[in-house]
Amino acid sequence: MRMWKMIPAALIVGLGCLLALGIGANATGATANDQIPEYVGSQACLGCHTDHFTHWSETGHANDLVQLIRAKDFPGDISSAPPELQAELQKAQWLAFGERFLARSPETGQLMYLNVQWDAAAGQYVAYNGGSDFDARCASCHSTAWDASQSAWSEPGVGCEACHGPGREHILGKGDLSKIRSDFNSNTCLQCHTGARHGTNWEVSAHARSTAPVIRNENHEPDPNGVPYRDSCFECHSSDGFVAKLRGEEFSATANHPNNQPVGCAACHDPHGNGNPDQLRQSAEQLCLTCHSAGIPEGGSIPVTGRVGHHLQAEFLWGRGAAGGIKPTEGPHSQVACIECHMVGGDHSTKIAVPTQVAAGAQDSCTKCHTDSTPESRKAYLDTWQRTTGTMIDAAKKDIAVIEQAVAANPNLLDEAQALVFNTAKANLTFIEEDRSMGAHNFEYAMKILNSVSSQLKQVREAIGR
Ligand code: HEC
Ligand code: HEC
Ligand code: HEC
Ligand code: HEC
Ligand code: HEC
Ligand code: HEC
Ligand code: HEC
Ligand code: HEC
Ligand code: HEC
Repeated sequence: MRMWKMIPAALIVGLGCLLALGIGANATGATANDQIPEYVGSQACLGCHTDHFTHWSETGHANDLVQLIRAKDFPGDISSAPPELQAELQKAQWLAFGERFLARSPETGQLMYLNVQWDAAAGQYVAYNGGSDFDARCASCHSTAWDASQSAWSEPGVGCEACHGPGREHILGKGDLSKIRSDFNSNTCLQCHTGARHGTNWEVSAHARSTAPVIRNENHEPDPNGVPYRDSCFECHSSDGFVAKLRGEEFSATANHPNNQPVGCAACHDPHGNGNPDQLRQSAEQLCLTCHSAGIPEGGSIPVTGRVGHHLQAEFLWGRGAAGGIKPTEGPHSQVACIECHMVGGDHSTKIAVPTQVAAGAQDSCTKCHTDSTPESRKAYLDTWQRTTGTMIDAAKKDIAVIEQAVAANPNLLDEAQALVFNTAKANLTFIEEDRSMGAHNFEYAMKILNSVSSQLKQVREAIGR
């Protein structure tokens, strides 16, 4: 006989309320505690965490498996289905993923798929080749605290405790923080999100190792390049720092050590949902900009002396921010969102799917919008942009080396005006390099900047006769 770990919701809500009212563990008595399972179900969290519960209840996690009790629980009018499908629907006990129907087999006690499916796009019931076993193949990720030995879940779908671990002791301890798990470690999500697009591709992304370049901050070691390490680095380099910034909370990397997690699932996604598509913390368009923009205002520019900085992709794409009065220049892709090229088909590696280098039939980073060109022609554009930019950067670096050598020999060689021209050229060159796309983000702008850099360096070389 199958054992259910589920306990009556009323008991648990009652427990949550009692505790919320300040009636402690002792009041429930030792016998009562023994009867309370480790996993108490999301309902038990409602009383004290109403906002989390309310937001979570709107997510796919909460609605992954829906119990079918009344006619209105079904996605469509049952009487509209063909008679043989109506017979299947009469047996249905659960709606899975909004499309399939489950019923417990009277023989084995296992949950099995029925021979009917809901086609949401067409708005109708269609036949489905059911019969396969939900318990053995799907329940471990589509329910909470699945116990294979008992063929039982604590809760259908992804409840609070799927991520936070068992909640009983936390509740009996009136919200004892030491008895509940909560952190930004992406392993929480990776236990179920094992697929390539999200899980393994994130693991190989730069985001998954983003704390490495700033970790020395915790030891207050000086950066070899003289860059000061500070807590603010973690606003973009760690999940913890980023979310603290979004919430307007103070953040100390040192105090948070060793918890600082790289830019992971719960940095970009709100695990509890917030109404945004895909549970994103910000819209997909804004999210990338929050870290990949230097915040240079319209009409503003990078500094001519001092650090140019990094994370300048947005400015470069939009075509603004260069020093020395170079005219802002929108390119053909200035209005295109980062994810269109960097997350093709939801690929979380954020790598460009280079034309001609993707699997046969797969989309590359440009296919979505350029349906009428060949992969070879798109690759040729990309190569031309990057090669031309690279050649001009190399030439400029040679000029800079010549000038710097002369200045090293004679520190007062450049007058104030010449020094300004020289520093402007150097800052603008760094701007292009720090964008890191080698001109691909906005080729027109890259050329405008590099032409200016090259003529400025020529001007300085002529003035000093080198
Ligand atoms: C290793 C964990 C795991 C197992 C096992 C698993 N799934 Fe999933 N499934 C997921 C995750 C995570 C998602 C959501 C992310 C995604 O779409 O990749 C998902 C999404 C889905 C969706 C899409 C839901 C939607 O609304 O978009 C369907 C349908 C689905 N699974 C069916 C199944 C079926 C059928 C089985 C058993 C044969 C199964 N899954 C087994 C983890 C799993
Ligand atoms: C999909 C996984 C997941 C689910 C489901 C989930 N949480 Fe969380 N929760 C997290 C993660 C990860 C954090 C830490 C990141 C953060 O603070 O947003 C967190 C943080 C929290 C926090 C403390 C930080 C804050 O937001 O104030 C509370 C309280 C909380 N969760 C309660 C709940 C409750 C109650 C539920 C169910 C109604 C729930 N969670 C469901 C993953 C989850
Ligand atoms: C009796 C009230 C009560 C109930 C019921 C309750 N909690 Fe809490 N929870 C608290 C209190 C109080 C805190 C601490 C808030 C604080 O100090 O910031 C807390 C904090 C948390 C945190 C934050 C942990 C951290 O390290 O910041 C999480 C996560 C959490 N609860 C999850 C849950 C889950 C999941 C459930 C349901 C299984 C639940 N809680 C039920 C009272 C409750
Ligand atoms: C117990 C397994 C499990 C865990 C743990 C889990 N997920 Fe999921 N997740 C799923 C399943 C199953 C779905 C598909 C739900 C559906 O739509 O039917 C899903 C769907 C999603 C979606 C798509 C939501 C949408 O609107 O389409 C996002 C985003 C997501 N999960 C993020 C996370 C994050 C972030 C974490 C960790 C904090 C996490 N998940 C932890 C199983 C899990
Ligand atoms: C740098 C930000 C970022 C990180 C880190 C991130 N995601 Fe996402 N995720 C996104 C964006 C943006 C989308 C929407 C993509 C789109 O619209 O094409 C998305 C979509 C999703 C979806 C649902 C849509 C789909 O592609 O089917 C799931 C599920 C998901 N992410 C899971 C995860 C998991 C699991 C992790 C951690 C292993 C993770 N994400 C880490 C930004 C992120
Ligand atoms: C929380 C801040 C944050 C957010 C949000 C964010 N990124 Fe990043 N991103 C980083 C950091 C930090 C790095 C550098 C990591 C490293 O190299 O150590 C990075 C690196 C990258 C890289 C370089 C990859 C490589 O192989 O060198 C790309 C591309 C990228 N991000 C794209 C995106 C896209 C697209 C989005 C939006 C979906 C996004 N990022 C959102 C912080 C963020
Ligand atoms: C506003 C967000 C933001 C802040 C703040 C920030 N970074 Fe970054 N950082 C990024 C992004 C995005 C990338 C990846 C894209 C790039 O290189 O421009 C990155 C890349 C880097 C890299 C190159 C990583 C590699 O793998 O090559 C280093 C090093 C770095 N950051 C150090 C720092 C330090 C040190 C600080 C603090 C002084 C800091 N960052 C503050 C967003 C930020
Ligand atoms: C029109 C397509 C397109 C758009 C839109 C786009 N990128 Fe890129 N990005 C590229 C290409 C192409 C490269 C060069 C890739 C290479 O050299 O392999 C690149 C390179 C990068 C790099 C250097 C690391 C790497 O992956 O090579 C970062 C970081 C980056 N982009 C971030 C962003 C961010 C952030 C946005 C949005 C502000 C954005 N990109 C918008 C096409 C795009
Ligand atoms: C989300 C849509 C989108 C994506 C993705 C995209 N483009 Fe474009 N592209 C446009 C638009 C819009 C224009 C401007 C209108 C036009 O000229 O057709 C454009 C114009 C161009 C042009 C003509 C520019 C000129 O100087 O005349 C080239 C070449 C080009 N794109 C190449 C690429 C390459 C290579 C990729 C992939 C790395 C790519 N695009 C990805 C939307 C996109």
